[in-house]
Amino acid sequence: MRIVLFGPPGAGKGTQAPRLARAFDLKHISTGELIREAVRADTPLGKEAKRYIDDGRLAPTPLVNQLAEDAIRRAGEQGFILDGYPRTIEQADWLTELLEQNFKPLNAVVSLKVDVEATVQRLSRRRVHKVTGENFHLDFNPPPPEIDASELYQRDDDHPEAIRRRLQIYDKQTAPVEGYYRERGKLIEIAGEGSIDDVFNRISEALSTNA
Ligand code: AP5
Ligand code: MG
Repeated sequence: MRIVLFGPPGAGKGTQAPRLARAFDLKHISTGELIREAVRADTPLGKEAKRYIDDGRLAPTPLVNQLAEDAIRRAGEQGFILDGYPRTIEQADWLTELLEQNFKPLNAVVSLKVDVEATVQRLSRRRVHKVTGENFHLDFNPPPPEIDASELYQRDDDHPEAIRRRLQIYDKQTAPVEGYYRERGKLIEIAGEGSIDDVFNRISEALSTNA
């Protein structure tokens, strides 16, 4: 199966994608996570991308397309769930062409619908595990007691100013991607509010019946 998990910052993409990847035996591909890994490893790509991601701007499309393509090729026959990609119409066109020429088309694009107030609440109290990359929330999804606070960090782009900028960029550049897939009959809209398990069950059911 080839799936895109779509939604604004804080919609729950990074929370749901690893669970869905396990349940449907797919490779989880997060362009945000690939970029953060490159930044941590201080590679030339990481150095270039850091200036964009820390203050919440989109990284340059050629760089992100290349990361996505490499990961899609590595996933091969297993299939994938893309998280945070594509994020512009240009990226969506590019992905359509890549899949048409080398693979099979997408089965579905799952769009998580969450109110903007809820996304801000979620992002401002998110904490990420330094080693596993797992996302927690200090109130809604607290880390288990065996995880020490020193093992968690707050993302540089989870501060109020960067959150505001990411949401603005989402409205302007990323939201139109939803219409792109609706027109092509790929879009499945899912309510992203409620418990993490409820959202997971909604997506799983929709994928099992529609994708
Ligand atoms: P990326 O890492 O993709 O960030 P994002 O899209 O802004 O999304 P987030 O990771 O912030 O949110 P999420 O939907 O994953 O939510 P999560 O599950 O963590 O991208 C980062 C940056 O990289 C971009 O700004 C850009 O610079 C660059 N980049 C990446 N891809 C790019 C591309 N294609 N083109 C150009 N640049 C690109 O959940 C959030 C919080 O809510 C967590 O604390 C979680 O525990 C909690 N939560 C989750 N579900 C629930 C629930 N049901 N109820 C209550 N709390 C919940
Ligand atoms: Mg994420």
